[in-house]
Amino acid sequence: MTQKAKLGLIGLAVMGANLARNAARNGFTTCVYNRTYSKTENFMKEFGNNPHLVSAETLEELVEKLEKPRKILLMIKAGEAVDKTIEQILPLIEKGDIIIDGGNSYYKDTQRREKYLSGKGIEYVGMGVSGGEEGALNGPSLMPGANLKAYNELKPILEAISAKANGEPCVDYIGKDGAGHYVKTVHNGIEYADMQMIADVYMFMKEILCMTTDEMANTWEKWNKGKLSSYLVEITSQILRKKDDETGKPMVDVILDKAMQKGTGKWTSLSALELGTAAPTITEAVFARIMSSNKEERTALAKIYETVNLPKTDIDKKQIIDDLENALYGAKICAYAQGFNLIAQASKTYDWDVKLGNIAKIWRNGCIIRAGFLDRVTEAYEKQKEIENLLFTDYFAKALKESRAGWGRIVSTAVLSGVAVPALGSALQYFDAYRKSQSGASLIQAQRDYFGAHTYERNDKKGTFHTEWF
Ligand code: ATR
Repeated sequence: MTQKAKLGLIGLAVMGANLARNAARNGFTTCVYNRTYSKTENFMKEFGNNPHLVSAETLEELVEKLEKPRKILLMIKAGEAVDKTIEQILPLIEKGDIIIDGGNSYYKDTQRREKYLSGKGIEYVGMGVSGGEEGALNGPSLMPGANLKAYNELKPILEAISAKANGEPCVDYIGKDGAGHYVKTVHNGIEYADMQMIADVYMFMKEILCMTTDEMANTWEKWNKGKLSSYLVEITSQILRKKDDETGKPMVDVILDKAMQKGTGKWTSLSALELGTAAPTITEAVFARIMSSNKEERTALAKIYETVNLPKTDIDKKQIIDDLENALYGAKICAYAQGFNLIAQASKTYDWDVKLGNIAKIWRNGCIIRAGFLDRVTEAYEKQKEIENLLFTDYFAKALKESRAGWGRIVSTAVLSGVAVPALGSALQYFDAYRKSQSGASLIQAQRDYFGAHTYERNDKKGTFHTEWF
C-alpha cells in the first residue's frame, strides 16, 4: 500500500463496522482491526471491494498503516477493554497521535484516561456516538470531547461522516476531556425518559381507552406530523402496526414486558444526584425499567391486588387524544429541560464551557432522540443564549402553559384509573414544583431545626436562626 490510511478503527462489532464503512464511503481510507482476526477477515470479504477499506492483522500493522498524526478510533466494549487496548497501543504510537473512544464510556473514566494520556503527549478524545447501527452507517450524531487542537485534526472526518440537519453537520466541539461522553450519557438519559413517556401513553391507550394497536398506530402516525414529530414517535407507529409472523398477534403483545438497560440512564441519574441538579423524570424512567424487570414479583402482586377500589372516572373521548398529545409534549419539554440543566451544571463543575445551543443542533438528526422539537430548542437558545433551563425560554413557557390542562387531565385520569404513568407524572410534578415560588420546605426546615437544631433562614430578614421548640 502506498497511501497511508487517514483513520484506524479498532473493533468490528456492528457500530464499528458501520462507522468504518461510513468513513470509507466518504473517501477517508480506513484501516480496520479487530481483536479476533476472523471478524476482520469476514468484514473484508464482505466490504473490502471498497478501495478505501484496508485491514490489519496486528496492532503493529495497524499503526504502521496510518498517516501521522495517527487517528485511532476505538469502537470496543466500554470498561476494562478500553484501558487494555490503550496499553497495547501506547508503545506503538508517538506524541501528537490521537486516540478516540467512540464507545459508551463512563465520563469519569474518560477524564481519567485523558489525564493519563495527555501526560504522555497523546491526545485522547472521548466521543459520544448516537444513532444505532443505521446512524453509524449513514450518519450519526457525534459528540466529541477533546482538546480543540485534536478536534480540529478530526473535524473533516467527523463532519463528513456525521448526519446533517438543514445541511449542517451533527457534530461540534463539545468541551474538553469527559464532556463528549457526558453529553452522550445525558442524551441517553433523555432517551430513557422519552421512551418511558411513550410507554406511559401506550399503557393509557391500552388500559384506559382500550384502543387496538392499529388505532394506536394511526394516532402515533398523526402525531408524527405535528409538534411531537420525532424518530421515537415514528418508530412507535411502525412497531404498533407490526404483527408477529408466528401468531398473527401484534408484535408488541408477544414481547415480554421486561426492559433492559446498559447503564447510561443510571449514570445520568447518579450524576444528577452528585451535582445536586434535579432530573427526576430521567431517574424515574430508570426506576421504571428496574420495576419492569421484576416481572415475577409484579405478577405475584397482581394476584394480591387484583381487586383494588378505584373511583369511577369520566373520560371525554373527544378531548382525550389531544390531551395525551399535550401530556407527552409537556413531559418531553420537562425531560429535555432536566437534561440540558444537568449538562449546564456539569459544564460549570468540570469547566467544559459547553454551548447548550450547539448540543440541541447536533441532536437534530442522526441520533435516537432526534425530533422536530430540537429545532425549537435550537431557536430558543439562539434567542436566549445564557438560559440553562428550557422552562425559562419564551417559546417553551408558552408551550407548557398550553399543555398543562390536558397533561393534568391525563395524569389525574391515570391515577384515578390505577394505571401507572411514572414519566408523565414525574414530569408534571417537576413542572408544578419548579414553577412555584413557595414550596413546602419551610416545614422541612422547621422539622430539621426541631429535631436536630440544624437552624433555618427566614424570609423576612437575613441570618441563621434557631428556635427553642420545646
Ligand atoms: P457485541 O457488541 O457484539 O456484543 P462486545 O463484546 O461488546 O460485542 O465487543 C464489541 C467489540 O469490542 C468487538 O469488536 C470485540 O472484539 P472481539 O470481536 O475480539 O470480541 C471488542 N472487544 C471486547 N473486549 C475487548 C478487549 N478486551 N480487547 C480488544 N477488543 C475487545
